[in-house]
Formats: sequence, structure tokens, C-alpha cells
Amino acid sequence: MDKAQILVASNRGPVSFSISEDGSLDYRRGGGGLVSGLSAVASASDTLWVCAALSDADRAAAARAPEARLDLAGFDLGMRVRMLDIPPDTFTNAYTRVANSTLWFVHHMLYDTPNKPRFDAAFRAEWEDFRSYNSAFAEALLTGSADNARVAVQDYHLALVPRMLRQRRPDLRIAHFSHTPWAPPEYFRMLPDEIARELLEGMLGADHLGFLSRRWADAFLRCCESLLRVDVDWEQRTVEFGGRLIRVGVHALGADAPTLRERAAQADVDEWRTALRERVGDRKLIVRVDRTELSKNIVRGLEAFREMLRDHPEWHERVTHLAFAYPSRGDVPEYREYTENVQRVAKEINQEFGTASWTPLVLEVNDDFPRSLAAYRMADVLLINPIRDGMNLVAKEAPALSDDGCVLVLSSEAGAADDLGRDSLLVNPYDVTQTARALHTALEMPDDERRARCDRLVESATALPPQRWFEEQLRALG
Ligand code: G6P
Repeated sequence: MDKAQILVASNRGPVSFSISEDGSLDYRRGGGGLVSGLSAVASASDTLWVCAALSDADRAAAARAPEARLDLAGFDLGMRVRMLDIPPDTFTNAYTRVANSTLWFVHHMLYDTPNKPRFDAAFRAEWEDFRSYNSAFAEALLTGSADNARVAVQDYHLALVPRMLRQRRPDLRIAHFSHTPWAPPEYFRMLPDEIARELLEGMLGADHLGFLSRRWADAFLRCCESLLRVDVDWEQRTVEFGGRLIRVGVHALGADAPTLRERAAQADVDEWRTALRERVGDRKLIVRVDRTELSKNIVRGLEAFREMLRDHPEWHERVTHLAFAYPSRGDVPEYREYTENVQRVAKEINQEFGTASWTPLVLEVNDDFPRSLAAYRMADVLLINPIRDGMNLVAKEAPALSDDGCVLVLSSEAGAADDLGRDSLLVNPYDVTQTARALHTALEMPDDERRARCDRLVESATALPPQRWFEEQLRALG
């Protein structure tokens, strides 16, 4: 790795701030594959990460930093971070309305189509703000970028950035990576024509477009064929556009097992393990950990657990389902309603089956990372049943931490199924009965088979750790 400049852009950055009681700013490092992948290469390069200020504390931190470049040298991140203070209304329209309530819904196919979406004049105004937000990122990246710098733009929020950069600085080498699925053309075409085209053309401003699964890469290419009428070379996975050849690559991000294992061996995780064991006794454990996110399909997962308990009374008193569903995107109304549904179904299950000595379902709705790690270590069965998911890193991380081996019940619609499908119990996420049966099969699986499967899962899950995943994309830029 040379000392060349690397610029990264993502909506959510590698750090977040909070204001402590005495008014000073506290900082917290974010999780996720990109942060660990980049921290590992950052020291060998001159790296700047551009992200949005997401809270008042972030805005305060950005305001205090000279030229809005936060000095995080003391924070062991190995890179410079610049947080953009985007005007709040612009940010809300771009992030909440367009990115999360529209593009996320399209790529995860979440719409209740008889009623939504509806693209009217108000949406067009929101789209203008989405453009401004993208151009704020493009400006920040251009300011001070060296000749031939490599730029790694992340996700659907910033789909317009590659083209904005290309128009101004053709010398830059630009990559865009999608951490989500990509919608098939029949669904993507729900977007207004001109907006669908602007998104595709925006991304095609890059030299290299990365996806987590072949399925998502191919869906993107089919959208290009059908909406832009461009030539796709399906063998090479390239598109010709604007007189350039754009490469589309598949980079299946894997788990960072050594870092996770080190973290999971710490005392706070052990304390949680003891506390959880005291709470559930020696019962079998079905574990799930998600953001409370529509696409994670938590409600059907709980219903599957309920159906299993109805069909198999032999499990009563002998199994506990730990469901950790921490808050997410509460500013989108559908998420608030979904959170209520999760809580309602959880309550129904405990009312139907709970006894004085047994709480079948333990639902926790706050985020606690060490508690999640403890649950990963203890799980007999891991339930991951999204209706659509770019990858799902929990499916890759949790088996790597398992103390005695766990069975993975996994949705066929998660990108992770490409690598892990063979050694998990695959389910159709809409099929509650099939999921209930898979839970029963998983609970009954003999110890040696469970261990052997889990070992194979870990091997596949760690094949492309974050650092190599990121380096692959940089290499693809030449
Ligand atoms: C997905 C997206 C990320 C996003 C994350 C959390 O993984 O691909 O870009 O940061 O969800 O969502 P949030 O809206 O809270 O950043």
C-alpha cells in the first residue's frame, strides 16, 4: 500500500459525538466493516473521511474544528475526519425522506404498493435537497484532494457523488460501494424516470462499482440495460457509458474475527454472559440481534418462534428466545409502527406460553454491544431472516464468536446466503411455517453436526476480512 491519498465518503462517519453533563464533547468510535477495514489501511496512507454531522453534538464538534476537520489524532483512528454541517432541513429531506424512506424502500422492496410510493411535487422538492446534500459531499471531497487521489464513496445516500466528482476532476479514481441490495428493474422503475436515470448515471461516474453479492451487481446491470439502454458485457461485468468503461465488482465483506474475538474476551462480555445464564438457566438459546428495521423481518421471526412452540410443546420451558432489537430510524413513521408491532407480538408470546418459572421470549430494545457479543457466544441457534439484506454481517460475525457452535437459520434473501447458505438452514423469509420448522430442526441438531457446520460457517464468513475487502476495491481502481 503506497502513501497515496485515499478519500472516503459516507453519510454515517467513523465517529459520533455526545455532549456530557459538564458540556464537554465525548466521542465514540462507530462499528461496522468499513471502519475496521479502513482503520487498518489508514496509517499507511493519507486518509480523509468525509461524513455528515448527524446530531447536535456532531454539529458542535464540527463547528469547533478548524475548517471543519476534526482533530482525532488522540483518538487512535489514524485518519482525518471531516464532518459536514448540512442545513437541518436539507439533511432531513435528503437522509430521511429520499435516502431512507425512498431509496432504502426501493432496494429492499419494502413498499405496500397499492398505497405507496407516490412521487409528487413535494417529492421533487425533497429530491432537490438530495442533490444539494450530494453536492456538499462532492465539494468537501474536492477541496484539497491531491492529483489522482482515490475516492471511495459509500452507499445509496451518495449515489450522485461519483458523477459530480468526475465532471470536475477527471483525474480522480473513483469507486462507489453499495452496502444494500439493488432492486430488480421491474421494482426500480417505480422511481420517476428522470430520477431513476439520474441515480444510475450518478453512479456510473465512478470507475468501479462494488456490490456485496452477485445478485445485487447483476440487478444493477439489468437496470442500466433497461433504463439507460447501455451495452453491458456480462462476462466481464463492465458497462460502457459516456465513452468510458465502468467495472462492476462483487466484494463479499466478511467478519473481522480476530478483533471481534479480542473484544468478546473482555470482562464486560463475561459479566453479561454470567448475567444472561442466570436469567435463562440451562435452557437452549435462540438469538437474534438487529436494528429494529423493516427489512430485518423481526415480526415474522417472532411468529415463527410462536408457531414452533405451538407445534412442539416438548420445547416449553426448555428454550428461550433472546431478541435484541435496538432502535433505528425512529423519524420514519413506518419504523415507529413496526417497533410497536414487535413489542406487541413479543408480549402475546409471553402471555400465551410464559409460566412462573419461564419467560419464553426476552426482548431487549436498547443497544448494548457487550451484551450482544455475550449472546453470540452463547447462542445454540442464530435466527437471521431478513426479507432482503445487502449482506448481514451478524450472520458472519456471530458464528465466529460461538463458544460451542451454533446453527444458523438464515434467509435465502440475505447476501450472506451466497457464502453461508450451504452450512445453514436456509428459509424463505415470508414463510413463517418453514422458519418455525427450521428452528425446531436447529434445536434438535446433534452437537457434533452443529459444531462441524459452525466451523465451516466461520471459514466462509472470514474469507474476506474488512481490510482485504477494502484493499480489493482500492486495487480495482488501479
Ligand atoms: C445500512 C446502510 C448504512 C447505514 C446503516 C445504519 O447498513 O447500508 O449506510 O449506515 O444501515 O443506518 P443509519 O440510517 O442509522 O445510518
